[in-house]
Amino acid sequence: MQPIEIRPNIYWVGVNDRSTDLFEGLWPISNQGVTYNAYLIKDEKNALIDLSKETFTDDFINQLESLIGLENLDYVITNHMEPDHSGALLRLRELAPQAKFLGMNKAVAMMKDFYTIDQNVEVLKHEQTLSLGRNTLKFIYTPFVHWPETMMTYMIEEKILFSCDGFGSFGCLDGVLFDDETSDQGFYEREALRYYTNIIAAFSKHVLQALDKLSAYEVQMVAPAHGLVWRKDPERIISLYKYWASLATERSEAGVTVLYGTMYRNTERALEHALQALASENVPVEVFNVGLTDPSYILPELWTKQGVLIAAPTYERAMFPAMVHALNMAEIKGVRNKTAAYIGSYSWSGGAKGVFEGYAERLNWDVVGTHEFIGSAKANDLEQIRALSRQLALKSK
Ligand code: FEO
Repeated sequence: MQPIEIRPNIYWVGVNDRSTDLFEGLWPISNQGVTYNAYLIKDEKNALIDLSKETFTDDFINQLESLIGLENLDYVITNHMEPDHSGALLRLRELAPQAKFLGMNKAVAMMKDFYTIDQNVEVLKHEQTLSLGRNTLKFIYTPFVHWPETMMTYMIEEKILFSCDGFGSFGCLDGVLFDDETSDQGFYEREALRYYTNIIAAFSKHVLQALDKLSAYEVQMVAPAHGLVWRKDPERIISLYKYWASLATERSEAGVTVLYGTMYRNTERALEHALQALASENVPVEVFNVGLTDPSYILPELWTKQGVLIAAPTYERAMFPAMVHALNMAEIKGVRNKTAAYIGSYSWSGGAKGVFEGYAERLNWDVVGTHEFIGSAKANDLEQIRALSRQLALKSK
């Protein structure tokens, strides 16, 4: 996409990434892509806010050079040093040696750590302002959204919040930039939740602290570093963030997320009984096969729904490995305070139940029941599985 003027003399200079398969080497984006949004402010002093991933440096520099000679760039503001936004720094340092690189204390340290850049840099302080001429920037320190150096930049006169990862989403921009232009805002909201649960959620306490700081500012436009720019209804994405962050400690929506893995369908056959029991209590259910579904797509459901049913066999005295991977991601991302149950088959020794109980204890899950059975589930097993599933449904409303 070509640069887009989002307000007079303020330009989106982002790039679409349609070729990366795994964001951070972990999260699938082959079908959705992602953007690296950066913003150029042309004023008496010219400032760039954020950059792009190294792979897209040429596209990014071309975007910039179509608007400004790089010798005229005065400031480069780094809201966040993760390399999806800072990867072009080294090249920009070569092309614009006169530009001062600005960031919070830890960002400046990272410039040296990642890129050995330590000349013509300046450390910013929380709520420091920078006049560009007509426009004034104010830097709001928002640590751990989601790295220790992260900050947001607020443009006082235009009331624009350049929020970097905060309020961002996976998903390329298909020719349009703004919330009022897209024909599928729901797609970006779903991808914003996936981004939140995959990237940000472990730091929800810090997100709430950041939102508290931001509440002192009138925001007419949210301009993140990934995905849509919100100008028609910036409060929409801010309120979604408030809600998602609150779920780290508060009760989630009614519903049960079912994660299952199966080797020879013994656990799967038992699961069918559990699903009918859940349905009989009229609770929303979403089912994921962990052997086929990346945790990236499971985390949004785990995060927003109260109940969790884990159905997985024992595998070599422990738990089915794909389920361990899913539960491990849930633990890393802080999926806590759920209502949960476990069912699964074993052959010559148990093991999966104990693994589940370990996760449940560490994540403060309220376990309503567990049932493991040898081989195939018999009538007595199925009766217990149906009973604990009904109990799970009732406690997940
Ligand atoms: Fe979009 Fe934390 O980088």
